[in-house]
Amino acid sequence: MDSTGDSEKQPYQRLLPPHDPPLRVIIVGAGLGGCAAAVAMHHHGHEVVAVLDKVRSFNRLGDSLGLGENAYKLLARWGCNITEIQSIGNQAPTMKIRRWHDGKVLAEQPLMDMAGYIGHRGDYHDIFLKWVRERGIPIRMGCDVVAYADSDPCPSLTLASGETLAADVIVACDGIKSLARHLVLGARDDPVSSGYACFRAYFKPSDEMRADPARNALLGEDSVNFWIGPDTHVVQNTLRGGREFNWILTHKDDGDVPESWFQPGNMDEVRRLVSDVDPAIREAIKSTEKCLDWKICYRKPLPTWVSPRSHRIALLGDSCHAHLPTSAQGASQAVESAGVLAVCLSLVGRRDEVKVATRAYEKLRFPRTRVSQTHGEDLRDRWHNVLKNVDGIVEIDPEMVKIKNRPLYAFDAEQDAREKWQQVSQVVRAEFSNGRIEPLIEATGV
Ligand SMILES: Cc1cc2nc3c(=O)[nH]c(=O)nc-3n(C[C@H](O)[C@H](O)[C@H](O)COP(=O)(O)OP(=O)(O)OC[C@H]3O[C@@H](n4cnc5c(N)ncnc54)[C@H](O)[C@@H]3O)c2cc1C
Ligand SMILES: *[C@@H]1O[C@H](CO)[C@@H](O)[C@H](O)[C@H]1NC(C)=O
Repeated sequence: MDSTGDSEKQPYQRLLPPHDPPLRVIIVGAGLGGCAAAVAMHHHGHEVVAVLDKVRSFNRLGDSLGLGENAYKLLARWGCNITEIQSIGNQAPTMKIRRWHDGKVLAEQPLMDMAGYIGHRGDYHDIFLKWVRERGIPIRMGCDVVAYADSDPCPSLTLASGETLAADVIVACDGIKSLARHLVLGARDDPVSSGYACFRAYFKPSDEMRADPARNALLGEDSVNFWIGPDTHVVQNTLRGGREFNWILTHKDDGDVPESWFQPGNMDEVRRLVSDVDPAIREAIKSTEKCLDWKICYRKPLPTWVSPRSHRIALLGDSCHAHLPTSAQGASQAVESAGVLAVCLSLVGRRDEVKVATRAYEKLRFPRTRVSQTHGEDLRDRWHNVLKNVDGIVEIDPEMVKIKNRPLYAFDAEQDAREKWQQVSQVVRAEFSNGRIEPLIEATGV
């Protein structure tokens, strides 16, 4: 088997195609999930015909994003140079969880306990795109997928231009506002408010800010800090030794923030919300020129991730398992899903058994993503409640506020899929012969 730890020492080897000719795969969406899917499919010997994205070019969008060990052990196995990710990420060894009012450190933990590597989403995305291109996989920009045909054995999709493309398998990695979820699964797009929204800002501190003792406390070297208070928390982190600065303020949402990555935030409201936070972060936030207001929505877990007729169109990433920011696992779980889908496709010997692979994939992935989604919810709730109804003097047990993602990282998604394959594929085959695919979760009332 591949080793994970010494992948740099061993020359990388792509696996031989398990099918002759190889399975042809089209990937919709060149976000981190789509790129990971392309790299995983390539590693496992499948042929990625194209990765399609509707935008004409990518901008450096978003701010901080975490990539955990559970993801980079897979990426390394697929021949990706993880040092490239590591070297552009936050270099702080630990993160500090602090009391809202005065910044007293309640707990200090290695960065690895939360996310592994934290970097700018846009920077990480550039590297993922480079990994895809290095493998000779075409990324076609400006390709807006507007329709899917769920036909067996050759599902297809149609672009806004009218062009139609067909393959053995289509993987829809089209993000939280997925069209595939609607067109392929017939699932309604029902954002469920989480009751919270984030104000967020990412900027390069000015020379003036760097020289101001009231605002430069966190700019000396890379740092990651959290200030937690009743129903609110602030995340602060830097990149490039403090030359880039990011803060995210999670606050109660009164329900009127549209779900968007681009909604401008009201800085007067921000200044009011941080008026009583630790001065070390307060002044840096208050002097920020502009921010975004980012509503945090859930999607209800879906009863299926796979198209009902051909079983050859599968969803992956935020389109079927979006995470809260506090989980720090959205991108990592997309990478795991990519590995599992590619492994399952390799484990079916015959081309007409693709449907066994996709159905095994959703059965393997659903419970795992529920666990990591719930981790994010649990952490937010602990942070928002721990300081309620206590006066400032009470000692808080560090365990109550610590980030507990470590157990998620030991997991090897590909190995797990191989170990469970026999059993899961048997269940899937039995479901096909009974003529009923069990839903991943019972549909809740409409
Ligand atoms: C603008 C933006 C900013 C983000 N910022 C952060 C952040 O700061 N921190 C964080 O943790 N997470 C952030 N995320 C979420 C994070 O990127 C995802 O959780 C993770 O990378 C997995 O995403 P994905 O690949 O499934 O979906 P996405 O990253 O959303 O990618 C989906 C891709 O599909 C494309 N697409 C959508 N519809 C179609 C269509 N019909 N046809 C063709 N292509 C289509 C989109 O253009 C997009 O490139 C952000 C996402 C976006 C889109
Ligand atoms: C991996 O990336 C790092 C950082 O960019 C670089 O220094 C190193 O040479 C790369 N390793 C390989 C084997 O390409």
